[in-house]
Amino acid sequence: MCIFCILGIAIFLWLLHIYMTGGVCKIKKNLSGKVVFITGANTGIGKETALQLGTMGATIVIACRDTIKGQAVLDELNKLTKAFMIKLDLSCLNSVKQSVEDFKKLNIPQIDILINNAGVMAPQTYKTTKQSYELQFGTNHLGHFLLTELLVPYLKVAQQSRLVNVASLAHKHSKLDFQDINCSQYANSKLWPIKYNLQAYGNSKLCNILHAMEVSKRHGIKGCSLHPGVVRTELVREIVGNPILNIVFKLVTPIYFIFTKSCLQGAQTTLQCALEDYDKLVDGGYYSDCKIKQPLFANKQLAEKLWEFSTEKLKPYLQK
Ligand SMILES: NC(=O)c1ccc[n+]([C@@H]2O[C@H](COP(=O)([O-])OP(=O)(O)OC[C@H]3O[C@@H](n4cnc5c(N)ncnc54)[C@H](OP(=O)(O)O)[C@@H]3O)[C@@H](O)[C@H]2O)c1
Ligand SMILES: *[C@@H]1O[C@H](CO)[C@@H](O)[C@H](O)[C@H]1NC(C)=O
Ligand SMILES: *[C@@H]1O[C@H](CO)[C@@H](O)[C@H](O)[C@H]1NC(C)=O
Repeated sequence: MCIFCILGIAIFLWLLHIYMTGGVCKIKKNLSGKVVFITGANTGIGKETALQLGTMGATIVIACRDTIKGQAVLDELNKLTKAFMIKLDLSCLNSVKQSVEDFKKLNIPQIDILINNAGVMAPQTYKTTKQSYELQFGTNHLGHFLLTELLVPYLKVAQQSRLVNVASLAHKHSKLDFQDINCSQYANSKLWPIKYNLQAYGNSKLCNILHAMEVSKRHGIKGCSLHPGVVRTELVREIVGNPILNIVFKLVTPIYFIFTKSCLQGAQTTLQCALEDYDKLVDGGYYSDCKIKQPLFANKQLAEKLWEFSTEKLKPYLQK
């Protein structure tokens, strides 16, 4: 085969890779005196986000479930800035409450940027949280919703604070049904591992978008959400736990590489949302590749409904 063809294909694939991994946050700020609170920062996109914001001098609080993995990140952060770790399991509402109690003990007066980044995707069997909610809705949305509500007093202390929810383009697979928020009708379906788990993930990610749309109306805090891109992280851990899907995954890895972002590339849109000038940040906006985009299925009425639904379910945890 002609060498130019091979060269041509290689260049094409490389350009495709650059295009697919695009979206760079060009904003650099001196964040000295600012406080960032970020969940799920012990690995993946969250870790890279925390390190970048740490480099800019913010005080960083990482909230992690696996604190052994978290400690390694904390050590790295401490070389850059002032940083703290608290334990947080979003799949247990009591743990969420406890983590806020632990945060109080740090005597940090305010939070400028709250980044709800942690997430779980596509468990191969139907799973639930400690309080029996479907795992993805319970963790990705409800846990973060409670955390945010409990941290609102700190966000209010800071001038021009913001909420950044790491959502996903996967919200397009959602089919949000308040009559069956737990997707329990699909719990025993044979299609759970390949269909309904992604629908439930999509639901939870749509909730992340809706939550960010409603927060300024409720609390006067600017909110935004984002799709980080397709990023090579541990998020597929549930999927690759399945032996067959694991083989499929390994086979497509070279192609997968072309279309996916590194963790640092994957952190760019979160950074854009965290660093964008306050006046320019689109309130309730959904970002992708560092630009504002239009999400699907999201509207004010649904955002309002989710808010009412969530506060109702969380009533016992929201009381002092
Ligand atoms: N990767 C992608 O292509 C992609 C695409 C769209 C959206 N996203 C979103 O990006 C965010 C970050 O994910 P990632 O890709 O960086 O995946 P990751 O490498 O798997 O990181 C997920 C993080 O969430 C934490 N987490 C999971 N369950 C938790 C729980 N119950 N309590 C507390 N923390 C929990 C994990 O902590 P442990 O290590 O302790 O389990 C980990 O720190 C997620 O919200 C995800 O939905 C990712
Ligand atoms: C950032 O700002 C603080 C005070 O606001 C200042 O002390 C520090 O030197 C600045 N850092 C850089 C790298 O400019
Ligand atoms: C989802 O499950 C939780 C926990 O069992 C329950 O409190 C809630 O009512 C369920 N929601 C729906 C709409 O089925």
